[in-house]
Amino acid sequence: MVAMMLGLASPAAALQVSVANGEGRRDCPTWCDRASATWKACSDCDFDDPIVFSKNHVAICENIDEGTPSAGFQPVPELPAYDAAVKTLDVSAVISDLREVMKASKDCWPADWGHYGPLFVRLAWHCSGTYRISDGKGGCAGGRLRFSPEASWPDNTNLDKARALLVNIKQKYGDALSWGDLMTLSGTASMWDMGFPVKQWCAGRLDDMTGGASQILGPSEDQEQATPCDTPGRCQKPLGSVQVGLIYVNPEGPASLPTNPWEQGVPQPIPEKSALSITEVFGRMGMNASETAALIGGGHAFGKAHGACPDGPGRPPSPKNQWPWKGNCGTGAGEDTFTSGLEGQWTDQPTKWDNKYFQYMLDLAWELGESPAGAHQWHVKDCEGDQCKLMMFTSDMALGTGEFKAISEKFAQDQSSLDVAFDAAWYKLTHSGGTWSEAKWCYEFPPPPKGDQELFEHATTMRSDDVHPQEE
Ligand code: HEM
Repeated sequence: MVAMMLGLASPAAALQVSVANGEGRRDCPTWCDRASATWKACSDCDFDDPIVFSKNHVAICENIDEGTPSAGFQPVPELPAYDAAVKTLDVSAVISDLREVMKASKDCWPADWGHYGPLFVRLAWHCSGTYRISDGKGGCAGGRLRFSPEASWPDNTNLDKARALLVNIKQKYGDALSWGDLMTLSGTASMWDMGFPVKQWCAGRLDDMTGGASQILGPSEDQEQATPCDTPGRCQKPLGSVQVGLIYVNPEGPASLPTNPWEQGVPQPIPEKSALSITEVFGRMGMNASETAALIGGGHAFGKAHGACPDGPGRPPSPKNQWPWKGNCGTGAGEDTFTSGLEGQWTDQPTKWDNKYFQYMLDLAWELGESPAGAHQWHVKDCEGDQCKLMMFTSDMALGTGEFKAISEKFAQDQSSLDVAFDAAWYKLTHSGGTWSEAKWCYEFPPPPKGDQELFEHATTMRSDDVHPQEE
């Protein structure tokens, strides 16, 4: 069932437009109402349905359209104006505003544990993770995650909510703060707020006016002509991922090989095979094994996966849709959120930076199970109490195999080795690709404000020679 709704949970569905049965549409073949429709067949459909509020459903969040413009266009400043403006950007003030937004949970999209930080980390990662070394395309500079096609990738489900939360900050700082800068800074500042001793973040990513430069990343006719991929899960370079519409790999495991043209393969929950796909995909981003393990385990120190029921997330922003991903489970938000179809958290403190992801992944006994939405995921065997909330993806279990195993063991034993590796890999990830202003400049973070004294002292020691805080 999940497979019918979201490409994340099934590679077979990555090219599908997530259309819920029975919802209206105009000027469109009737089968575009069914989940079997592909982007190509339905890309001209007008999905501009009236917004219908069901009894128990949360209301649409404000600023959705400003964060994900349905017109597919947003003006940007002339280059000289941007160069002049970015020099004046008060990063400390932006971080302070971001910290307020992070902790101001909204009814339309309740924050897990009262903190939007993990959502912003995922936003920054998905904006940046399109970067591919083969031709230098992708990356967060350009801010094209706001537009089709990226905005509608199955991997980017519900990131429209994250951008909507940031619109007021974007408007406050105007030309000085590009969307590319805002999206990367929201994730970086969130991790800092949650205790990660991040070192540096640089401003100066030039925004694009449209998502045009991402058409080549697909799914689109440009991509199909230039770099076709006949077998989802096995796409070749220069495509950045093994599957169009995914930034990374299928979390449930790589797809089996289809046996006929009508079949697309099913995810195989085999960690060793997942590790091979991860090496390939992160290699295309320019990451080695240590950087890859640090990024995945460091990222999943935070937050949770969302797959409350089998009914899926609803339709994406494109084709035009006034209420994208409104969520087909219960209220559509909070505990009823459907994003990937997987469900649960990796650690017991998902709003605090630590290396428990690696400790739990290696030390606990895991067995294969499934999420409420029916996706493959791993649970703690014979769990009791809070341990029953923990889960791992097949792609997480991959970090306990092959070349990743020794690296994960080091990160599990030594927090500071993870701090250093994650800091360097995160900087590389969020600063690769795109067009930058000549006025680019870098902000040095002070030690993180949150976390226990031990963490604070550790961060201070580690960074005593190279931190020049701008914030008191
Ligand atoms: C093999 C690579 C990866 C895979 C397959 C993967 C997959 C996923 C999936 C399926 C979710 C759940 C989304 C949802 O249902 O809400 C998720 C959440 C998340 N991912 Fe990853 N991810 C990968 C790498 C990364 C990296 C490199 C980072 C950051 C450095 C990251 C940061 C996060 C965060 C913070 C969340 C939680 C979001 C929230 O709480 O709302 N992930 N990931």
